Amino acid sequence: MHCPVLLEEVIGYLSPKQGDTVIDATLGGGGHSSEILKRILPDGKIIAVDRDKEAIERNAIKFREYKENIILVNEDFRDIDRIMEISGEKMVNGVIFDLGMSSFQVDDEERGFSFMKDGPLDMRYNPDKGLSAADVVNDFGKEEIEDIIRKYGEERHAKHLANVICSERRKNRIRTTKDLSDIIFKAVGRKYKRQRINPACRTFQGLRIFVNDELGAEEEALKGASRYLAPGGRMCVISFHSLEDRIAKNVFKDMAGRAEVSIITKKPVTPSRKETLENPRARSAKLRVVEKII
Ligand SMILES: C[S@@+](CC[C@H](N)C(=O)[O-])C[C@H]1O[C@@H](n2cnc3c(N)ncnc32)[C@H](O)[C@@H]1O
Repeated sequence: MHCPVLLEEVIGYLSPKQGDTVIDATLGGGGHSSEILKRILPDGKIIAVDRDKEAIERNAIKFREYKENIILVNEDFRDIDRIMEISGEKMVNGVIFDLGMSSFQVDDEERGFSFMKDGPLDMRYNPDKGLSAADVVNDFGKEEIEDIIRKYGEERHAKHLANVICSERRKNRIRTTKDLSDIIFKAVGRKYKRQRINPACRTFQGLRIFVNDELGAEEEALKGASRYLAPGGRMCVISFHSLEDRIAKNVFKDMAGRAEVSIITKKPVTPSRKETLENPRARSAKLRVVEKII
């Protein structure tokens, strides 16, 4: 089960109407799409994108009665031209990006996203493409690993962690999430004693962002999607950490500077206390919205 974050707010800002075409760039469990669908029926369309083919297969079952309304596309959202070509649509009235991982991915130990579970150290949204997290920690140079952990994990102890990872991998290849989280715990567990986050959290985040090129994909996708927004159409971005939010903020600022869009949320919208109590995953969510002008 994946609980959609900031659902009411997203629906409020997108305000989907009967007959609209909307891109859900991060289909996941289909939570945002379900609510959008109710409002665009009977003749509207959702272009529903996910890089993860398991998400596509799950939603093909979930939305089997709405084949005319949901176009499922198993692509990286950065390939927006290709996605639009597959969909056969020319313009859209709204776009939603709900970045990061779904609960389905975190909860499945075989996907290797979670330091709380033991599974192969993978972390790819599309396990058929690119390098896994295990390839990075076992085969990259010490400086590169340090750089990834520092830049994408915002981990203060990146240098020390990269040193320890490189000395441990000489003894045994680091194969599983538990192998890596044990190494991290031994290396920096004590330094995290007074902090509320798990010592492995930042390193795992850094590796996940790197293997999926999450920040590059986000920047490219936000710029690309704006070209397909009809005037008056809105784009919503939900981010879960400062690196993602900074990209949304800067890309939107540049677009507004060129008078392509107006910024609807001067400050990012955050979840209510009620939502964060019911769904702790929503805690760090931030929503930014723009509206297409020309
Ligand atoms: C937070 S979940 C979305 C949850 C969804 N909004 C819901 O309510 O069920 C993010 C999803 O985006 C997908 N994703 C992440 N990066 C992607 C990318 N570059 N292209 C396409 N899908 C991506 C992930 O595979 C994941 O399923």
